[in-house]
Amino acid sequence: MTKLGVNIDHIATIRQARHALEPDPVAAAVIAELAGADGITIHLRGDRRHIQDDDVRRLRETVTTRLNMEMAPTPEMVRIALRFRPDQVTFVPEKPGEVTTEGGLDILKNRKAAASAIRELQKGRLEISLFIDPDLAQVDAAAELRVPMIELNTRSYAEACPRSPDLDRATVQRELNKITAASDRGAGLGLKILAGHGLTYRNVRLISDIADIVELNIGHNIVARAALVGMARAVKEMLQAMGRH
Ligand code: PXP
Repeated sequence: MTKLGVNIDHIATIRQARHALEPDPVAAAVIAELAGADGITIHLRGDRRHIQDDDVRRLRETVTTRLNMEMAPTPEMVRIALRFRPDQVTFVPEKPGEVTTEGGLDILKNRKAAASAIRELQKGRLEISLFIDPDLAQVDAAAELRVPMIELNTRSYAEACPRSPDLDRATVQRELNKITAASDRGAGLGLKILAGHGLTYRNVRLISDIADIVELNIGHNIVARAALVGMARAVKEMLQAMGRH
C-alpha cells in the first residue's frame, strides 16, 4: 500500500496572497489527516512565500501522522528544523525566483554541503530524506551519505503526461523506466523510496504501482481540487486514484 503525504504549501499560498489569516494550513492538515492522509508535508522556503515559521510550530503541535519538512540544506533551515523537530526533513534545492522546485539535489556536486547538514540533523536525531532526480549516480551518492530514504523527482514523468499517460506512451514509458531503475537501485542499497512532484489524479497510478515506492508526496493537484470540492474529498479521491479504497 503506497502512502500519501499531502503537501499543504498552497493553502498557505492562498492565505499569503492577501496576508490574511485564512485559509489556515493547520485546518487543512487536520482535514487531510481525517480524510486518510498518511502524512503532512510543508516546504519552508528561504523567501517565506507560503509556509511561515509559526506555521511549522503550530503544525508540529497539531499533526498526528508524520510531519515532513522540506527545506534547503542551509544553516538557517538546519537551525529551524532542530528547533521544531519535524518527523522527517527532506533536503531540496532552492533557487531564488523559481516557481517550484526545479530539480533534485545534485549530490555529486554538493556532497560536502549536504554531508555537513545531514551530520547536524543526525546529531539531533532527525530522520532525513534527499530529493533527487531518478539518476543512478545520484542514488548511489545518496546511499553513500547514509540517509535512510530518498524521494525521486517525478517532474519529468509528470511533464511527459500533463493530461493522460495514454496520450504519449513512448515518452512516458522512457521516464517511467528511469524512475523504476532508480527505485530498484535505491531499494537494493537499503533505502526507503519515496517519490513526488507534479503528480496528478490522472498520472499517479503508474507511479503508485511501482512496488519499491512506498510513499508519494503530492501538493498542487490536491490543493487545486480542494479549492473546488473541499480538502477531504480531494484527499480521498487521490487515495482512490492511487488504488487505495
Ligand atoms: N516533493 C518535493 C520534494 C517537492 O519540492 C514538491 C513541491 O513542493 C512536491 C513533492 C510536491 O509537488 P507538487 O506540488 O507538484 O505535487
